[in-house]
Amino acid sequence: MSKPLSPKKSRPKHIAFIMDGNGRWAEQRGLSRLVGHRKGYQALRKIADTCLDLGIPCITFYAFSKENWKRPKEEVDGLQALFSKYLDENLTRENLAEARRRGLRFRMLGNLLDLPPYLRVKVRKILAKTRPNRGHILNVAFSYGGRAEIVEAAKKIAREVQKKKLKPGELTEEIFSRYLYTGGCPDPDLLIRTGGEFRVSNFLLYQIAYAEIYVTRTLWPDFQPRELKQAIREYQHRERRFGMTSAQIKSSARKV
Ligand code: IPE
Ligand code: IPE
Ligand code: MG
Repeated sequence: MSKPLSPKKSRPKHIAFIMDGNGRWAEQRGLSRLVGHRKGYQALRKIADTCLDLGIPCITFYAFSKENWKRPKEEVDGLQALFSKYLDENLTRENLAEARRRGLRFRMLGNLLDLPPYLRVKVRKILAKTRPNRGHILNVAFSYGGRAEIVEAAKKIAREVQKKKLKPGELTEEIFSRYLYTGGCPDPDLLIRTGGEFRVSNFLLYQIAYAEIYVTRTLWPDFQPRELKQAIREYQHRERRFGMTSAQIKSSARKV
């Protein structure tokens, strides 16, 4: 059993995961990369459940980037098949009832039109079935690219301006963020990357402006709830200054 988290310290409202290292996990064992992705899928399920148990309101998993389409066809097909399995499992009567009970709403970050039609249908279904749920949001980023997301948002805003629904001068950072796929979610407080790489790989570029970053060498299939709690504990010990001085942060904390 790992140490419980302090109920007093503030927990992140949004945790985003770059689930990296599935391929290496498999290669180290002489297995095919797809076996690593399957193991990674099991880790995702366990970590998502832990986040819900910990009361994290918003969770985002980077499952497949826009750049990942460049991988060998066999691997791309395998990753799509896993996404399909994930959707099927969450679309069963029992799991939809469970999502309702927990107030869990699913969302996909990425352009639905990039997906083959059979996947599109399933994604639309799960979005519709869980739309009324209030409590937690679980975002799966699939065929996701941070720059593409920003360009998409700019296009939507340009259309609004054309239709005279928005004046360019009225655009603020807050309004802009509503046009992103994550609209309605707070920005990630904590970004976790497994696999040891110190880069963001085109993930949530706009939203991670002030995220606390936790990089671990643990490969995603080995990432356990225990280490998630460790990452949250480390987050709770960081001083988030948002451009201010340490003294200012301390004095405002005393006033609360
Ligand atoms: C992350 O694992 C999952 C995806 C990118 C789909 P990788 O497949 O990138 O694993 P490594 O980085 O090769 O070990
Ligand atoms: C990032 O992992 C994307 C996902 C985890 C889905 P990659 O393995 O694709 O990232 P790079 O290529 O090492 O930057
Ligand atoms: Mg990788």
